[in-house]
Amino acid sequence: MTRRDWLKLTTAAGGAMLLPNVTGLLGDAQAQSMTTPGRERLLADFGWRFHLGHANDVAKDFGFGRGGAFAKSGSLIGGRGSVTAAPFDDSAWTAVDLPHDWAVDLPFSDDRGLNAHGAKPLGRAFPETSVGWYRRTFDIPASDRGRRISLEFDGVFRDCLVILNGHYVGRNLSGYAPFRFDVTDLLTYDGKNALVVRVDATEYEGWFYEGAGIYRHVWLEKTAPLHVAHASTFVTSEVAASGTAAVTIAFEVQHEADSAPVACQVASTIVDRDGRVVATQTSTPTAIPPWGRLLFRQRADIRNASLWSIETPNLYKVITEVRAGSDVVDRHETPFGIRTVRFDADQGLFLNDKPVKIKGTCNHQDHAGVGAGLPDRLQYFRIEKLKEMGSNAYRTSHNPPTPELLDACDRLGMLVLDETRMMDSNEEGLSQLERLVRRDRNHPSVFCWSIGNEEPEQGTERGARVAETMKRVVRDLDPTRLTTEAMNNAWGRGLSNVVDVQGFNYRGGAAAPDFAKALDDYHRQHPTQPTMGTEVASTVSTRGIYANDEARGYVSAYDRNFPPWASTAEEWWSIYNARPWVAGGFVWTGFDYRGEPTPYNWPCISSHFGILDVCGFPKDLFYYYRAWWSAEPVLHLFPHWNWAGKEGQEIEVWCFTNLDRVELFVNGKSAGAQDVKKDSHLAWKVPYAPGAIEARGVANGKPLVDRRETTGAPAKIVLAPDRVKIAGDGEDLSVVVAQIVDAAGRLVPIADNEVAFAVTGPARIIGVGNGDPSSHEPDRASKRRAFSGLCMALVQSKKTPGVISVDATADGLASATTTITAAETTPRPAL
Ligand code: GAL
Repeated sequence: MTRRDWLKLTTAAGGAMLLPNVTGLLGDAQAQSMTTPGRERLLADFGWRFHLGHANDVAKDFGFGRGGAFAKSGSLIGGRGSVTAAPFDDSAWTAVDLPHDWAVDLPFSDDRGLNAHGAKPLGRAFPETSVGWYRRTFDIPASDRGRRISLEFDGVFRDCLVILNGHYVGRNLSGYAPFRFDVTDLLTYDGKNALVVRVDATEYEGWFYEGAGIYRHVWLEKTAPLHVAHASTFVTSEVAASGTAAVTIAFEVQHEADSAPVACQVASTIVDRDGRVVATQTSTPTAIPPWGRLLFRQRADIRNASLWSIETPNLYKVITEVRAGSDVVDRHETPFGIRTVRFDADQGLFLNDKPVKIKGTCNHQDHAGVGAGLPDRLQYFRIEKLKEMGSNAYRTSHNPPTPELLDACDRLGMLVLDETRMMDSNEEGLSQLERLVRRDRNHPSVFCWSIGNEEPEQGTERGARVAETMKRVVRDLDPTRLTTEAMNNAWGRGLSNVVDVQGFNYRGGAAAPDFAKALDDYHRQHPTQPTMGTEVASTVSTRGIYANDEARGYVSAYDRNFPPWASTAEEWWSIYNARPWVAGGFVWTGFDYRGEPTPYNWPCISSHFGILDVCGFPKDLFYYYRAWWSAEPVLHLFPHWNWAGKEGQEIEVWCFTNLDRVELFVNGKSAGAQDVKKDSHLAWKVPYAPGAIEARGVANGKPLVDRRETTGAPAKIVLAPDRVKIAGDGEDLSVVVAQIVDAAGRLVPIADNEVAFAVTGPARIIGVGNGDPSSHEPDRASKRRAFSGLCMALVQSKKTPGVISVDATADGLASATTTITAAETTPRPAL
């Protein structure tokens, strides 16, 4: 029987086809399954060795390219002592743990071609720093014989060659899509295995910093021959008015062994967030032929389902057990959430039938200190910051994200517009798209798929054909979500006629300078198509800086500067918020990122688009958005009041607030009260005199005050860890912020003292940062200058519990110490 025949025999509800005498059909595979342990998923992040290779020089590239690499199996780079062999002297290589981005360690280079990419020497012109080799050895016990074993990479930048025990395992082009190889045949059982990955980052995929290396997790997964097929599970639900959710669990079971058909029974159990069983479904035993796959579809009702929402991100988990006879041979878990999402052309987006205005941000994936290789905790840190601002949606511009980002969004309550990188219907493009959709479709946070961004062919017939095919692939894999593309011109042409949701980037091109009119015209001409602002704002600002300074690469933090295609925060949000039919928008960007240092070039190496800087320190604009996006009373006064030398000169004082009326006081004297207009800001001009400015308003009947004081000179450091208790698992971390304060304990907003961090106890500093877009100090270091009074160190636990002490010292300042507890914890199962 072919696979298709078997699939045809599958029934839709309650399990798969029935066989009269199942036990009679049991063969060797089942006997084997009974003795083979079930699924094990091992984190393969630890204990790697890293060395730069060379893109042009064979001798410096461990012999790769000498010829004959693919001549004989098992000797990709042959010979004794070869880099791909288990016994190889890699003692001179650098010991690294994943995630790892080697670009972080490269020096900053003043080169026009590199500026947009973060000024790191990567590319064809830098062969000596653009290829990296990773090696690690590991044991596989003899008892693993008979299991299926796969290697899974969450993301490698980029074009990598995976070699196991000298065998070519496979290649992966995309720097963002996950990939996986079955390595069962290639392993050495009861002995050492050498896994080698050659990563070639000589080509970019984007126009921004992308990092280099194995910058996401790697997993080794072992299963019994009979197991739930990788990325085959899809959990969907329909919610009735009564509150009962009808859940459908579809998945394939694979039987990877030479034997007679095996009788397989599957049982799915749904548990709620507290681990309580809320539904179970067991299928009738069904035979699966050797090397066959069978689709199961199970239905279960959950009464009074707790819906997933932005405010209450309730999650469930389906645990699927695969049984061969009485043995459970696989146990596969899929977290999911129950919610409904729909777009309406007149009323925007609805989540669980309630209207939601998208208050979103687009983001790239790098962070201060670590580049593109973020430990999982930083994903949560970033989403928490965005939520604090009142943001409810995240666009993974312009590529598939790391899965932990989606976990963070699921758990914390953040909608996700999930985007693929290659907008094409060629094999590679569709493969990247399929891997993305299969992996991410169970995340309740994902509410829409984006098939591309500002593609040159967005307005053409060919572009439309490509989009048709991509949309069809998405529909086949996930009929529950709509598709969009972020279009910056050609609105109404090409792709506009294909995508379900029209994505507006900015003003729709230079030909449409009237922003509001461009949106209104589109809606009038396409009254039945839902719309959203896939990319808006691109307002540029530097934290704590109040005048443009090209020489230093800084932009004023007033809501004033933007490139020609973009706008202020206030302009886009006022326009979008006044139009219920547009679902909301995604600001370019939530966080600053390396590269694209618009409007300046060198010495600037990071963008200024972020509402928060690369460390996650809020800029003033954070409070504009918080004022109009969150439900909290906000009163934020700026700039700082340290303007020595500007005495008597007029200073613009702004206030981002959502109170009704605010009065400004300068050194105790009123400078006037103003009413607050919705989605707007307040501004005064007052002469500078040292002292204090104070904004006074009333929030919920109580006075609310914000104040900026002229501070004294830097006197001491204050340390503020974002978490004082972390897991002692070698992965968790605390973001330890150093504030430079004066003798009275006030943050000195212009301080730039260099802070040296030191850690004692079971922890290490994995990176530092200060948010200065022109800093060329190394990230992987233990010291950093403060920028506008702040810098930070990422303090990561080791795999031991204990008390971590973090010290911070700076010349001429009183030092500071803080303690963090690394709690005893069971680390994730690791290779
Ligand atoms: C957009 C683009 C983004 C970023 C932004 C800067 O056109 O999609 O990736 O470059 O401009 O304003």
